[in-house]
Amino acid sequence: MADTDTQNLAVERGAWKSKLGFILAASGSAIGLGNIVFFASNAYQYGGGAFYLPYFIALFVLGIPVMIVEFSLGTMTGRSFPLALQKLAGKKGEFVGWWSLASALTITMYYITILGWALSMLVGAFGSLLEPGASAPFAPFAEPSEGVSAIAWFFGAVGTIWTLTILLLWRGTETIEKGVRVFVPLMWLFMIALIVRGLTLPGGVDGVLYLFTPNMDGIADVRIWQGAFAQMFFSLSLGLGTMTAYASYLPKTADNVNNSLLVSFLNCGFEYIAGVAIFAMLFVYALNPAGSTLSLSFFVIPQGIASFPIWVKGFGVFFFFLLVIAGLTSAVSLVEGMASALIDKLGISRTRALAFVLVPGIAGSLMFALPTVIDPNLSGNGVLGLTLLDLVDNWAFRYSLLTVGLLECLLIGWVLGADKLRYAVNQHTKFKLPAFFDWMIKVIIPVILSAVLFGTLWQDLTREGGIYGSTYDMPGYGWLPAFIPAAWLVFTLVLAAVLASRPTVESAPHTPVAE
Ligand code: TRP
Repeated sequence: MADTDTQNLAVERGAWKSKLGFILAASGSAIGLGNIVFFASNAYQYGGGAFYLPYFIALFVLGIPVMIVEFSLGTMTGRSFPLALQKLAGKKGEFVGWWSLASALTITMYYITILGWALSMLVGAFGSLLEPGASAPFAPFAEPSEGVSAIAWFFGAVGTIWTLTILLLWRGTETIEKGVRVFVPLMWLFMIALIVRGLTLPGGVDGVLYLFTPNMDGIADVRIWQGAFAQMFFSLSLGLGTMTAYASYLPKTADNVNNSLLVSFLNCGFEYIAGVAIFAMLFVYALNPAGSTLSLSFFVIPQGIASFPIWVKGFGVFFFFLLVIAGLTSAVSLVEGMASALIDKLGISRTRALAFVLVPGIAGSLMFALPTVIDPNLSGNGVLGLTLLDLVDNWAFRYSLLTVGLLECLLIGWVLGADKLRYAVNQHTKFKLPAFFDWMIKVIIPVILSAVLFGTLWQDLTREGGIYGSTYDMPGYGWLPAFIPAAWLVFTLVLAAVLASRPTVESAPHTPVAE
C-alpha cells in the first residue's frame, strides 16, 4: 500500500493547470473572514483612521516582501513550508516550519467553528432568526434549557464546513482550482452588491468617512501597530505555511514578484471595499460594536441586518453567503498547507494526510463550539467554547504569525542568504528586486517584528489585572486564562518536535508542468 502510494505521489504531487488558477486560489486564500470581519472590527477598535496608516505601511514594508519570500520558498524547492525551509535553511528551519503548521492547525480549528456560525446564520437569515427584535442568534446557548437543539444544530454546521473543506481538497490542486473558479468571482460580485447597497443608504457615507479620516491619536501605542501587523499577516495568509504550499505547485520559473503584488493588491482592495460596506452599515444603523472582534461580526452585524426593513432582508443572506464562501476558500488553504507538508514529509497518500488533519481538527472545532455556560454574568464570553476561542485566538493570532514571519526572515536572510533568494527570484521576474531587498529581509523586517512582539509581550505580562482574560468572571474556570497560553505553547512545540524528528521519505520530485 505504502509503496504504491509513494509511486503515485512521485508522478502526481500536483500542479496548477494555469496561472489564473493559482492567482484565484492564492487570492481566495487571502480573502476570507479576515478581510470581511476582522479588518472592520480591528479598524473600529483602534479608532478607524488611526488603524489604516500602520496598516498601509505594513502592506509595503512587511506584507509584500514576506509574501515574495513565502512564494519563493515554494517555487525554489517544490516543497511545502517545513521541507522548503529545511532545504534552504537546515534542520532549524524545518522545526520553525512545523511549529508554524501546528499553529495553523489551532487556528484552523476555530476558523472553522466561526465558519460554522456563519453557516448557521446563513440558514437562519432565511427564517425567523433575523426578525426584528429577535434576540442575538446565540442567545439559546446562554440558556441551558433550550441548549440541546441549538448544540446539535451548531455541531452539524461545523461538521458540514469540515466536510466541504475536505471535499474541496480531495484531489488537491485539481479540486481546489475547480472550487475557486466559482467561489472567488462570486465573492467579488457579492461584495460589490453590498457596498452599493451600503452607500446608497442615507448616512452610509459617514461610516466611510470615519474609516478613512486620518486620526493620529493613539498612533504611538504599540498595540495599534501590532494589531495592524498581525492583521496584515493574517489577511495575506502569511506565517502559517499556506502561500508556500500553494506556490510549490507552480513551475520553478513563476514570477514571484508579480504574483505577490497581484495577490496582495487583490486582497487589500477587497478588504477596503469590505471595510466600506461594513462601516456604512454600522453607521446607518447606529450600531455600537462592543469590545471584541467576535462580537462585532456575530452579534452586532447580524443585529444590524435584523433591523433592516423586510425588503432588504436579502442583504443578510448575501452577507452570510459571502462569509461562508470566502471563509471556505481560506480554510481549504490552511488545511492544504498542513496536508501537503505531511505528504511531502511522510510520503503518505493525500487521503491519509487529510485524515491526520481532520481528526484533531474536527475535535478542536467542536471544542470551540461547546455551549456550557461558565460566565453567567457575561463579563467575558458566556459559554465555554467561545471563551476558549477568545483565549486561544488572543495568543495564536497575535503571536504565532509574527513570530514565524520573524524567524523565516532571519533564516532566509542569514542562513540561506537573502541575496541567494533575490538572485533566484530575479531570474524570472519583470520587476527586479533591488539589493536593498536583502536588508529588508535581514534587518529591517526582523527589527520591526521583534520590536512589536517584545513590546506587546511586555504589555501582556505587565498588564494591570493580570493576563488576558483574567478579568472575566468565570466561577470555577478562573485558571483558564493562564492555562490556555501554556497549553497552546506545549501542544505546538511538542507536535513540531515530533514531526521534525521523523525521517523524511523522499518521494515526489519537483514536477510542476504548467505556466
Ligand atoms: N487570510 C485568510 C483570511 O483573511 C485566513 C487564512 C487563510 C490565513 N490561510 C491563512 C491566515 C494562513 C494566516 C495564515 O481570512
